[in-house]
Order: sequence, then structure tokens, then C-alpha cells
Amino acid sequence: MAIFVEGVHKRYGDKSALSGLDLEVTRGTVHAVLGPNGAGKTTAVRIMTTLLRHDEGVVRVAGHDVRKDPAAVRARIGLLGQHAALDEELSGRQNLELFGRLHHLGARRAGLRADALLDRFGLADTGRKPVKQYSGGMRRRLDLAASLITEPEVLFLDEPTTGLDPRGRAEVWSAVRSLVGGGTTVLLTTQYLEEADQLADRIALIDAGRVAAEGTADELKSRVGPDRIVVVLRDAARLAQAAALLPDPTVDPDSLTLGFPVEDRMAGLALTLRALEGAGIEAADLSVRRPTLDEVFLHLTDRTNTTEVAA
Ligand SMILES: Nc1ncnc2c1ncn2[C@@H]1O[C@H](COP(=O)(O)OP(=O)(O)O)[C@@H](O)[C@H]1O
Ligand SMILES: [Mg+2]
Repeated sequence: MAIFVEGVHKRYGDKSALSGLDLEVTRGTVHAVLGPNGAGKTTAVRIMTTLLRHDEGVVRVAGHDVRKDPAAVRARIGLLGQHAALDEELSGRQNLELFGRLHHLGARRAGLRADALLDRFGLADTGRKPVKQYSGGMRRRLDLAASLITEPEVLFLDEPTTGLDPRGRAEVWSAVRSLVGGGTTVLLTTQYLEEADQLADRIALIDAGRVAAEGTADELKSRVGPDRIVVVLRDAARLAQAAALLPDPTVDPDSLTLGFPVEDRMAGLALTLRALEGAGIEAADLSVRRPTLDEVFLHLTDRTNTTEVAA
């Protein structure tokens, strides 16, 4: 287990930021901590990276307890914070070399490592330009490179794409993907459902300082409800006939669309095709629709709120 968090509480004065956070991250996986602003993501990351002390609970990172042995933890992790410390006047390469020197790499190794990382994140061409000329996506990739100087076992990325345009976001996503092949464990926080869906092996959905749901994107989606078969007809006149052939579908006459839930998507598709074909009804489109993570999020956070009100 690369990260083990159990029953962690953190208060700022009388305000509770984390209230019983649990988290387990397997070595070599990408784990997303997904939650809205104020959910406690940065607080959790600061605790796991030894920058902040928790009030209660157990936190082990890369095999070491953050309280008992913070130095051992620090030696094995990298952190990309929400605000990174790059020197604007220096080139990307110089920034990386500087980070390397700060981590006692020695001039030669720091230089080699800088070049390797620039290359890896598609910054080889721009590596000699001053950072102030970089786009948002380039900066963030440079941040990422800097956090990897020490070849960490566990890398923490706190909202790595917040504030980036779609292109910058895509650049950072591909950079994160390239890390995973190398065996690094990544914990990333995000407010973007799509980001968690794209990058993470598992997702912990957090709300008000604790985990509301945890699992793969597919598992979380299946908690909202089953897949739906959606079929669009060509001819409005056949709508009622088609509806009678399918298992209790919803019907939208304006878009000529019928939909119904299925446990087994292949069986659902086959049933629909057979029914329509048998009756000689033409379909313009036939698809399976899965619930989106957005729907999962609304569903689960709503339920959490309801339980709290009820309790
Ligand atoms: N230094 C602080 N002092 C007081 N309250 C804080 C401090 N940092 C965070 N908080 C509060 O703790 C909660 C969690 O914050 P944070 O961990 O930054 O959430 P996130 O990163 O998910 O947006 C929020 O309600 C926030 O206002
Ligand atoms: Mg934050």
C-alpha cells in the first residue's frame, strides 16, 4: 500500500476540514481524490506530504508514518502544489537544474536529469527559454518535471489542471499518463469529474472532509443506476408500435427517442435490434448510455447531505 489513511480528523480552530478521512492507494496506481471546493483536498494532501499535522488518525505514505518519520516520507515523495515556485527569469532547464542541486544531485546529474525530464514532457525545444514566456500548460508540465527530480515513489498532484485551458489540460493529462508506466504511484486531487474519469484507476469522492464513495469510475457509475439503451427512430408514425415492443421504455416524441434501462447491455442491444427488425421499424441510431460521473457526484453528495440532515 503506497498510501494508507485511516480516520483522519483535522480542525482549523472550530472549523472541521477533515472528519474521518479514509484512503488506501495501491502501489503503481493513479488515485483521484475528487471533490468540490472546500471539500478538504488540499488539507489532506498537506497532511500526507508532512506539511501539516493532523489531529487524529493514522497516515502512512511509502511505508512510513508521517508523524513518526516525516523525513523518511519526504525522501520518497514529490508534490505538485496549487502554486508552484518557478523562477520566471530562468529557463525551464535552469529551473530544473536548480531543483536538482537543491536536492543534492550534483551539477552533472542535475543537468542530465533536467534534460531527460524536459524531453519526457515535450519541453526539449522550449527548455532554454525563460519561464515567463511559457503557456499555462507548459508551466504545469515544468512543475510536474520539477516534482519528479528526485524520482519519488509517490507523487501528489493537487489540482494539477485547475486554471488551465482545455489544451493545457490535455497536455498535463498526457504527461500524467506517461508517469504511470514508470511505476510511480500518483494521488491527484481534482474538481473535474472528467479528469478523474480519464486518469484514475480508482476514485475517492470526498465531500465535507470525508469519503462519500470510492471505487473505479465504472463502479461509481453503476451505483447511480444501470446502463440505458437509447434508440432513435426514423418515422414518428412507428413510435407507439416500437414502444409496445420494448420493455417499458420512456418515449420522447419530439426527438423520436425511446430509452430503457438494462442490466446486460449486449442483451439489451440484441433485444432491441430483433424487436425493431421483426416489425420492420427503421432506427436512425441505437446506443448504450452510461450514467456520467457528474450524475454520480450529484447523486452521492445529495444522499450524503440527506443522511446528515436525517441523523
Ligand atoms: N488555514 C486555514 N484556516 C482555516 N480554515 C481553513 C484553512 N485551510 C482550509 N480551511 C478550510 O478547510 C476546508 C477545507 O479546505 P481545503 O482543504 O483547502 O479544501 P479543497 O482543497 O478541497 O478546496 C475549507 O472549508 C476551508 O475553508
Ligand atoms: Mg485545494
